[in-house]
Amino acid sequence: MDTGRQRQTQIYLDGIAGVRPIVPIDPGELEQRARNLMSPEAFAYVAGGAGLERTVEANRSAFDRWRILPHMLSDVSQRDTSIELFGDRLPGPFLLAPIGVLEMAHRQADVAAAKAAAVEGIPMIFSSQASRSMEECAAVMGNSPRWFQLYWSKSDDLVLSFVSRAEACGCRAIVVTLDTTLLGWRTRDLDLAYLPFLRGKGIAQYTSDPVFTCQIAEPLDAPPVRTRITFSTLVSFWQLLRSYPGGFFQNLRSGKPRRAVQHWIDIFSRPSLTWDNLQFLRDHTRLPILLKGILRSDDACKALDHGMNGLIVSNHGGRQVDGAIASLDALPAIVEAVKGRVPVLLDSGIRGGADAFKALALGARAVCIGRPYAYGLAIAGQRGVQEVVRNFMADFDLTMCLAGCRNIAEINSSMVTPAS
Ligand code: FNR
Repeated sequence: MDTGRQRQTQIYLDGIAGVRPIVPIDPGELEQRARNLMSPEAFAYVAGGAGLERTVEANRSAFDRWRILPHMLSDVSQRDTSIELFGDRLPGPFLLAPIGVLEMAHRQADVAAAKAAAVEGIPMIFSSQASRSMEECAAVMGNSPRWFQLYWSKSDDLVLSFVSRAEACGCRAIVVTLDTTLLGWRTRDLDLAYLPFLRGKGIAQYTSDPVFTCQIAEPLDAPPVRTRITFSTLVSFWQLLRSYPGGFFQNLRSGKPRRAVQHWIDIFSRPSLTWDNLQFLRDHTRLPILLKGILRSDDACKALDHGMNGLIVSNHGGRQVDGAIASLDALPAIVEAVKGRVPVLLDSGIRGGADAFKALALGARAVCIGRPYAYGLAIAGQRGVQEVVRNFMADFDLTMCLAGCRNIAEINSSMVTPAS
């Protein structure tokens, strides 16, 4: 396989015909181009982090503290970038991270990303806060791998319903995100006073769920959410009625959209969750379960003690705890504690193939692409996501080649050194 060189050559050949790449290759340019196309609220929601965004920064600077140590003269003419993950052979060590509310980036939202993932053969992790239901996304993916990310809500019935739907639509793993017992203090969103879920965005997994729709069929116990009535309130309400499944007038009469938002607020997360709750999930699914948001080696050991099948080392892209350790900084101790017993994945700060190479050298099995694919989606829909994935794959393949590695097994800890 020579994917990196082929893509690189194609880009340069297109240049002779005056054609530039559809999405910028440079990650800063990619973000900037998407920013120009997105509403201020949408861009703030995707790009923003918690507090002073120190962890967003730390996620990047952690990669700068490692340097690659290339080998020379090791016949890298044939390279194999593929990896094995839970029984699937994947073309490279990449997945699409679960990202909620993709409708803020593009009209086709998760469906466009799912199509792109399927064409490129990489798994997509469907978000609990998706803009399109998991079934709709699975339907465009054929037999391509997909996983489901679970936010553990206050309703066990809803948790089980999500999990059984994920099984039914062919998801091959459940990812339980642990770092979002509440939303972080997201400065940019707070300054714009904008939270998409309150406007009915990013709740498609719930509104398409039989348990959830049953729960909102009757008036709710909790007092209704109140806000001042202004012109803006009426516009938001109109948008909510239009975007909710069913017709505008039917939604106006039934009051379901408002109840759905209110109920989502009530049940979205369960801060009381403890390690003991994991057994409940273990008892109800045969799919592998991964924990996302692990940043400490003692938690990694507990996860194994509780029968978990994988970990995603992540700080949610710096969106939850401002000042939390960078994911890459947390990785080596966790890999050491896990001792190869389950796959350890990483996200937060991955912006190119060399980042993936460093993460693998430090013991990650694969990495999840986050914000960059949301930007690709904003720029060019499905095609934009595909371009981003192809760029990551090409950069990774070229980095492997130039570092003298022929396959993933050769990307070991001897390939990196701390920057002096
Ligand atoms: C996220 N992330 C996330 N994670 C999750 O488990 N469920 C979710 O619904 C979301 N939603 C979400 C929305 C947006 C806009 C962003 C940017 C991120 C976190 C995501 O899976 C991943 O951990 C981070 O995106 C990784 O950081 P970088 O690489 O994007 O900086």
